[in-house]
Amino acid sequence: MNKDVIIACDFSSARETFDFLAGFEQDARKPFLKIGMELYYAEGPEMVRQLKRMGHRIFLDLKLHDIPNTVRRTMRVLSGLDIDMCNVHAAGTIEMMLAALEGLTRPDGTRPLLIAVTQLTSTSEERMQQELLVDASIEEAIAHYARNAHEAGLDGVVCSPLEAQLVKAACGPEFLAVTPGIRFADAAADDQVRITTPARAREIGSDYIVVGRPITAAADSHAAWLRCLTDFCPETL
Ligand code: C5P
Repeated sequence: MNKDVIIACDFSSARETFDFLAGFEQDARKPFLKIGMELYYAEGPEMVRQLKRMGHRIFLDLKLHDIPNTVRRTMRVLSGLDIDMCNVHAAGTIEMMLAALEGLTRPDGTRPLLIAVTQLTSTSEERMQQELLVDASIEEAIAHYARNAHEAGLDGVVCSPLEAQLVKAACGPEFLAVTPGIRFADAAADDQVRITTPARAREIGSDYIVVGRPITAAADSHAAWLRCLTDFCPETL
């Protein structure tokens, strides 16, 4: 499995997204893109189809969390979009994750990668314990949710890069750690708290880094993407 950098396209319109991608046209390598709820709900599945036609791989970050039957049926629709990666909340239970996998698997047996959200990085241990009544440390909760995802047959989890080792220890080295919270050493943290650099994420064991503003808000986004690739997965260049 090749490591890669996934650019978080946190834009609110197709126009903004295509303007951003115009800066990458000169490169034969098409960046792996993350489409989140904002862009998907604004532009719909046609956005995904267009980006796939342009040659991009797509992580569709819709974080499904519903009853198993609804998730199964929705995943069947998403799988038809030819996406490369998508996700669910592990809190939906093992039964829901099994249903997601079933829905995602195409008639020929292929399917996009499926990863789980454990605890959102915006959820503090205090709020998790007091509001969600989870009587565990945040690390225990993350490792437990990751083990549930692994048991259901998912491919990995989204987590902070600083949690990648914890996840690998709980679920094995092949279980994917897809990690946002990436910043260059010389840059602002913005609203991210548990952050690290692309090079450190590589050392810790991330499989994919998800990078938004350090690339999308850079004066030269293409150069910032290349810097991430050079630091995180130079062997793919
Ligand atoms: O701009 P920035 O690099 O902070 O963007 C990170 C991306 O990863 C955003 O799309 C954000 O929603 C997403 N994400 C995150 N933390 C999580 C899950 C997803 O930052 N736990």
